[in-house]
Amino acid sequence: MTYEEDLQDEAAFWAHFNSDALARGTPHWLDLQNATRIDRRPYNPFNDHRIENALRGSLKKNLLDQAGIGPGRGLDFGCGIGWLALELARRGFEMDAIDLAPDSIEIAKTYAKEQGMEDRIHHFSADLGTYPLPQQTYDVVAIWDVLHHLPDPEGALQRIKESLLPGGRLIILDHLGFDSSLGSWVKWLDRLLPIAPHAFFSRIRRRLGWGESPSPPSPVVDAPFEHCSEESILPAIEKVLPGAHISSALPIGIHLAHHHEAPVWCAPLVWTFVAFVDRFLLSRGASGEYLTVVWVAPNDPKSD
Ligand SMILES: C[S@@+](CC[C@H](N)C(=O)[O-])C[C@H]1O[C@@H](n2cnc3c(N)ncnc32)[C@H](O)[C@@H]1O
Repeated sequence: MTYEEDLQDEAAFWAHFNSDALARGTPHWLDLQNATRIDRRPYNPFNDHRIENALRGSLKKNLLDQAGIGPGRGLDFGCGIGWLALELARRGFEMDAIDLAPDSIEIAKTYAKEQGMEDRIHHFSADLGTYPLPQQTYDVVAIWDVLHHLPDPEGALQRIKESLLPGGRLIILDHLGFDSSLGSWVKWLDRLLPIAPHAFFSRIRRRLGWGESPSPPSPVVDAPFEHCSEESILPAIEKVLPGAHISSALPIGIHLAHHHEAPVWCAPLVWTFVAFVDRFLLSRGASGEYLTVVWVAPNDPKSD
């Protein structure tokens, strides 16, 4: 496969991921202001706003607060369906929002229009692995869950750094990988927390070897660049962004959410409890599956 073919598969994966959520009537579960309730079994825990809000809600709000308030120019690097660009536009920034998948860009544009924000966000499709960003242009750049999809995160961070104005802010959330030494926490919480009846019965069926009903064949291959550069993200941040404020986040919550489905009636409570366990583990020095980064470009670019 060539790089271009892999990029096409990556875009096809995300187009499918987002249109699946759209078909459930919940394309904007990520939007801080308009997260919608879904009661149909989610395709993926990230598509369930109850999990998203409980586990990553305060993380999102805190990081966005670090981005500050406009006026100014902003960039959402890997915007997906565009919730982050929308939120920064609401905070007064004129946004550029770039993503590989043209279908995601279309969803983002439609939603920005519904929210009356289409004049404040310029959405377009491009490969962020190579896209030449304009120099010293942005007051804020936000990257949410994207660096680990890029084969060269260091090169991307260098281009982003050069695109920031002096004093401009870069906010990042990304995936570092699950620390398997925390596996027993996931195992025990999975056993002890309330479980949705259908998830319980399918677990019993699996244990008894009765098998699962075969899932329909997926129309797309997996995202070929998923997790392609996880281990180089932290070294790249430390090298390119000296003095960055780096924090660990979510040691077990998201990993558990991939295994455990709580009953709808108590899901907010269950995931709020899991968020509490995450904070407890962090306070005991556990490493997070995710990291957040805030970096402010020096006023004299030669000083770093
Ligand atoms: C996990 S999603 C995150 C999307 C968005 N930031 C959010 O928080 O919802 C990863 C995104 O990265 C985009 N992506 C992956 N590789 C890319 C590339 N080479 N160029 C541009 N976008 C890319 C995908 O299309 C997808 O929208």
